[in-house]
Amino acid sequence: MTRSEALFQKALNYLPAGVSRDTVLRSPHPFYASRGHGCIVTDIEGRDFIDFANNMASLIHGHAFPPIIDAVSTQMRRGTCFTFGTEAEVDFAEHMCARSPAFEKIRFMNSGTEAVMAAIKAARAFTGRPKIAKVEGAYHGAYDYVEISQTPGPDCWGSQEAPNAVPLAAGTPQGVADDVIVIPFNNPEVALHLLNCHAGSIAGVLIDPIPHRVGLIPAELAFIHQLRDWTRVHRALLVFDEVITFRTEVGGAQTRYDVKPDLTALGKAIGGGFPVGAVAGNSDVMAVFAAGEHGLRLPQSGTFSANPITMTAGRVAMQHFGSDAVARLNRLGDLARTSISEAIQLSGVPACVTGTGSMFRVHLQAEAPRNYREAFVDADGKKRLARFVDSMLDAGIMLTNTCTGMLSTVMGRAQIDQLANGVLTSLRRLT
Ligand SMILES: Cc1ncc(COP(=O)(O)O)c(C=O)c1O
Repeated sequence: MTRSEALFQKALNYLPAGVSRDTVLRSPHPFYASRGHGCIVTDIEGRDFIDFANNMASLIHGHAFPPIIDAVSTQMRRGTCFTFGTEAEVDFAEHMCARSPAFEKIRFMNSGTEAVMAAIKAARAFTGRPKIAKVEGAYHGAYDYVEISQTPGPDCWGSQEAPNAVPLAAGTPQGVADDVIVIPFNNPEVALHLLNCHAGSIAGVLIDPIPHRVGLIPAELAFIHQLRDWTRVHRALLVFDEVITFRTEVGGAQTRYDVKPDLTALGKAIGGGFPVGAVAGNSDVMAVFAAGEHGLRLPQSGTFSANPITMTAGRVAMQHFGSDAVARLNRLGDLARTSISEAIQLSGVPACVTGTGSMFRVHLQAEAPRNYREAFVDADGKKRLARFVDSMLDAGIMLTNTCTGMLSTVMGRAQIDQLANGVLTSLRRLT
């Protein structure tokens, strides 16, 4: 029995399914990390992997980035959390607000899920309305409302013109589904029609500009602009989820669209490898976290929110991710997508690659999907995908289970070449 098999057997005694998050589930058992350095993760069997998963896109500088280690070590000796505010929090807030004109104020929390939840609750508090709209298939974390239509299948998703609001978790109250309007991605005509049907009761429209579960294809300019216009006219809020996509530009993917969302949910990479979430937005709306001008108020706290470890790591990570670093990583992303496309062509296997900036996703289908339904992978497809991801691991390349990769600043051409070789070998093994 390998060490990983033994550890999994032990884990099954204490953890349901042997894990604390579904993300690490794999058959026949999870891999167990021993250490990480730069872009390499070594597992407890002593095998090395180039890390293109980066803890689900949260490690923008790879593992054990020396400036973060130094700063966090110093802070750890001073204390890890207090029932006081800290300078670390204020300094990080200053840095983040300087990254985008849309971030007039920011409030920190501990995860992307919490950030999305707080943004939605802020939209409700500000507008006094109950409903939200979200894109079919988009992943926004584990808050009940945004879990609606996260993974619907053809058996329940309904028509394109009026997608069903499909709960994810058993036991989700019907009232939750009733308060979510599900809109199709990049289809402004249908989306606006659906929004119009509920105009007076929509608090906010939640949109990830490059939703990975929907296929990792960017939202079209017209789609975003029409949602922005609609929300203005109908006095609802436009809420961007940039928990992943913030990495694409210094001020997030929103700067590519020339729009200012009212609120933006942030997380992952801005924590420098520590648990983080944040909501940033315009002062008027963010005032709901204070005693709102409109008399509306959203009480919001978290024991570990803005702890100085995360705040320090986040500030250092973001200070090392200025315009030059972002541009370099995006160019590396271009190279990754081109190299993967070449590997796909060489293999002759029907597959394609999507993504933008420092993100890519391989699809085992010839045509790039344009929305969730086109990106949907059925049970057989999932098995094939798992074989591909396993084969990539055999080749020493770690991707997420959806075949998505996110680059880190410690990578270069050598890692991209190995990635492309791994893709070619793994595609050939599929045939
Ligand atoms: C777009 C998006 N929003 C929100 C979340 C939730 O973030 P967290 O896992 O930190 O709760 C994720 C996580 O993958 C995400 O990808």
